[in-house]
Amino acid sequence: VTVTRYDTIGRTYAETRRTEPRIAAQIAAALGDARTVVNIGAGAGSYESSAFEFVAVEPSLTMLRQRDRGAAPAVCARAEALPIADGAFDAALAVLTVHHWSDLELGLREMRRVSRRQVIFYFEPAASHTFWLFRDYFPETPKLISERDAPGTARLSELLPVRAVEIVPVPSDCRDGFACAFWNRPEAYLDPTVQAGTSTYSQLDPSVVARGTALLREDLASGAWDAKHGALRGLAEMDFGYRLLIAQ
Ligand SMILES: C[S@@+](CC[C@H](N)C(=O)[O-])C[C@H]1O[C@@H](n2cnc3c(N)ncnc32)[C@H](O)[C@@H]1O
Repeated sequence: VTVTRYDTIGRTYAETRRTEPRIAAQIAAALGDARTVVNIGAGAGSYESSAFEFVAVEPSLTMLRQRDRGAAPAVCARAEALPIADGAFDAALAVLTVHHWSDLELGLREMRRVSRRQVIFYFEPAASHTFWLFRDYFPETPKLISERDAPGTARLSELLPVRAVEIVPVPSDCRDGFACAFWNRPEAYLDPTVQAGTSTYSQLDPSVVARGTALLREDLASGAWDAKHGALRGLAEMDFGYRLLIAQ
């Protein structure tokens, strides 16, 4: 049994981390003419479009249990040791997972070994960490291990033959509740279910979460948040450093 961080933090994941159709379309376009795709660190499988033949790889049993009955077949394994033959898939996909891997270099080498094309959805840490939630309420975030060591475009480009890097704008009604998803819906960050759906909150000390959440609640009630960031409420989408990389 592989025990990972997601065995303890992933329990409500399927509630808040749903497929965002615009991101799904961007990922599908990046997969191009691939037919077979292995989804590494697949979680509940939010981006496993039925237009492709997916196989999921996921080390956490808690996450595996949240996959729907009709979801693609899944294997309990880690990116660093894929139980897959060389060149078995047209493409390998990794969505918001590379920052959790214990050995990035090995995991990416494995992705290349089993596939012709690699598609990675990740965040550029320097850009994401300027997000108001982290800067104003949880300044401890960039120091978390998965954030501090999160690979950006420069590091990924050293390790993969990158063909393209696309900006993934976050829509104002983003359905996938990842860390910056509620950028113009600040009230959502007071909700414990939303908090439980991201690895950022679960890695922060509970006292830090309580303090930051109380401060945000105060700022929303007093109008201080709107005075500083209220212009965001009228915007349709924003770039918070999320990127889609295609390597081949
Ligand atoms: C933020 S979730 C993303 C899940 C899914 N890709 C999605 O977008 O909904 C990160 C996932 O990476 C998985 N993970 C952590 N370490 C991993 C590793 N070494 N190899 C593969 N997956 C890993 C976690 O168990 C978790 O399911």
